[in-house]
Amino acid sequence: MIRVLDAPTSALEYSRLAPAELVERIEARKRELNAVILGHNYQRVEIQAVSDFLGDSLGLSQEAAKTDADVIVFCGVHFMAETAKVLSPEKTVLMPDARAGCPMADFVTADSLRLLKANFPGAPVISYVNSTAEVKAESDICCTSSNAVEVAASFPVDQTLLFVPDRNLARYTAEKTGRPFLTTSELMDPSAIAPGTIVAWDGYCYVHDDLVLDELAAARSRYPNAKVVIHPEARRELLEQADYVTSTSAMVQIAGKHDELIIGTERGLIDRLRAEFPEKTLIPLSGAAICGNMKLNTLAKLAWSLDTMKHEVVLDEGIRLRAERALRRMLEIAGGWRAPTAEEEAIETDGLRATDCGCA
Ligand code: 13P
Ligand code: SF4
Repeated sequence: MIRVLDAPTSALEYSRLAPAELVERIEARKRELNAVILGHNYQRVEIQAVSDFLGDSLGLSQEAAKTDADVIVFCGVHFMAETAKVLSPEKTVLMPDARAGCPMADFVTADSLRLLKANFPGAPVISYVNSTAEVKAESDICCTSSNAVEVAASFPVDQTLLFVPDRNLARYTAEKTGRPFLTTSELMDPSAIAPGTIVAWDGYCYVHDDLVLDELAAARSRYPNAKVVIHPEARRELLEQADYVTSTSAMVQIAGKHDELIIGTERGLIDRLRAEFPEKTLIPLSGAAICGNMKLNTLAKLAWSLDTMKHEVVLDEGIRLRAERALRRMLEIAGGWRAPTAEEEAIETDGLRATDCGCA
C-alpha cells in the first residue's frame, strides 16, 4: 500500500515521478478514499486514461449527481467541479489545479446578471453550465451544449429569455427554436424587443470563437468526403457549414458512424476519438484549438490532489441551494434526475427565503 506519509510534499515533486508510479499511486489512493475521478473530454490523454468517467458537461453532472463515492476528483475546469459540489454537497470535491478556470464562465458575474434581470422583469434566465455557482443561483434553469435547444423550447414561444454567458450557443439556440435574437451589446431599448427574443450575454469561448472558415475550407479541400461536426460554441458562419452541431460526447457517437470526420472542437476530444477509433480518419478543424485551462491538470497534480485532499471546492450553502434548483430543472429535462420530493422542495424554498434572493 502507498502511504500518504511517503508522498512527496509538493505537486512539483510529484512531477519527477515516473508516469507508471503516478498511476499506481492514483489507483491505490482512490481505493483508500473511495474516490472517483471524473474527467472532461478535453483532458490530457493520460488523465483520460485514469478517469472513471469521461464525458461532456451534461454526462459529468449526471455522474456527479448519482455517484456513491465519498470523494470526487474533478479533472476539468472550475465550473464543472462546482457543479459536482452543488449536486453532491455531502461529498468532498477536489480539483488537482485550482487555477483551472473557464474564461467564458468569467464573462458574467452575479452582480452584472442582476442588473440585466432588472431590465427584464419576469424574464427567465437560462445559464449555460459554463458559469459560476453564483450566476447559476441567479438563474431559473441551466443548460449544456447538448440540451440548450430543449431547455429554451420548454418556455412559451413569446416569452423573452435571458441567456448567459455564451452568445454563440445562444444564437444557435434561437435559430433552432425560431426565436428572435440579440446580444446585450446590441440592446438599445429593452421594452422594444420582439416577444420571445433570446437576449444573450456577449460572452464566448476563446477556443471555439477563434475557429475560422479558412481552416474549415483547408480541411475540406484535403478531405472532401469527410463529414463536419462542430461544437455550438463556435460562430454562426462555421455552424452553418457543419453536418452536425453538438456537444463533445455526442461527437463520440457521431465518430462511431463515419470513417472520415472533421471535428471543430478542442484537441482533447480528438485525442479521445483517435484512441477509441484508431482505424478512422479524424481531423481537427484547427490545430490551434487547445484549452490551456483544461490542460492545467496533470497526472502529477492528480496524484498530489488525492494524497493531500486538495484543492477542496467549498460553496456558500445559500448559493449552493439556489444553484442546485437551476441545475435540477435542467437535469429533469435531460432525463437524468428524478423530481425533488416535497421535503427537498421545502428545503430549496427555505434556502431561497433565507438568502432573500428575490428569484421566483
Ligand atoms: P461539452 O459540454 O460539450 O463537453 O462542452 C464543455 C465545454 O467547456 C466546451 O468548451
Ligand atoms: Fe471554457 Fe472554452 Fe475551455 Fe470549454 S474550451 S472550458 S468553454 S475556455
